[in-house]
Amino acid sequence: MSLAADLIAWQRVHGRHTLPWQNTRDPYRIWLSEIMLQQTQVSTVIGYYERFLARFPDVAALAAAPQDDVLALWAGLGYYARARNLHKCAQTVMQAWNGHFPTRAADLITLPGIGRSTAAAVAAFAAHERSPIMDGNVKRVFSRYFAIEGDPGRKDVENRLWTLAETQLPEQGDDMPAYTQGLMDLGATLCTRSRPSCTICPLQGHCQARIQGRQHLLPTPRAR
Ligand code: ADE
Repeated sequence: MSLAADLIAWQRVHGRHTLPWQNTRDPYRIWLSEIMLQQTQVSTVIGYYERFLARFPDVAALAAAPQDDVLALWAGLGYYARARNLHKCAQTVMQAWNGHFPTRAADLITLPGIGRSTAAAVAAFAAHERSPIMDGNVKRVFSRYFAIEGDPGRKDVENRLWTLAETQLPEQGDDMPAYTQGLMDLGATLCTRSRPSCTICPLQGHCQARIQGRQHLLPTPRAR
C-alpha cells in the first residue's frame, strides 16, 4: 500500500478526531487553530482557542476588535507577531475578500502570517484541496520514510522534502483531512524525535530509515 493509504487507515483508527478545530470546514476556525499551533503545543492551545472563538466567533468580529483586545486574549501564547498578523489577516479578508475567508492554498498564502504549510493545511481541511503540508513533525516523517540525508532546516533539503510530499498526496480529495491530520498525528505520537515507536508504526514496512535501522540518525541534526 502507499504511504497515503497506510496513513489514512491508521488515522481513522488511531489518530485524533475530537480536537476542537476538527469536524468543521469553517476556514476561519481552521485558520485560527493552525496559527495558534504554529509554535505552541496542542494541550496549551485548546483553552486559548476556545476563549478566542467565544470572543471572536467569526472573521468580522476579529477584524472589528481593537488590537489590544486581540493581544490580551493572546497573552501567554507568545510570538506576538502571530497575533498582530492574525488581526491584520482578518482585516484583509474583510476588505479584499468581502468577508469570505479564502479556502484555496494559492489565495491563503497571499494573506499576512500564512506560509505555504499553513495555507495547505487550511485548504486541505476546509476544501479538501490536494496540497501538501511540511512542518517540523512532517519533515521528520518524510526524512525517515525516504531516508533523506541533510538538515531539513536547509533550503535544498526542505525543497526535496516538499517535492516528495507532492508525490505522496492521496488521489481522492475527500481523504485530505485524514491524510493531513494523519501526518500531524504520526509525527506527534509515534514518529517522535527520540525513541520513535517504529514497531507500531503504520509506515514501518516501507520506511527506509526503519528498514536500514537508521531511524535514530534521521533527520540529520543541524550542524553546530
Ligand atoms: N499542529 C498543527 N496543526 C495541527 C492540527 N490540525 N492538529 C493537531 N496538531 C496540529
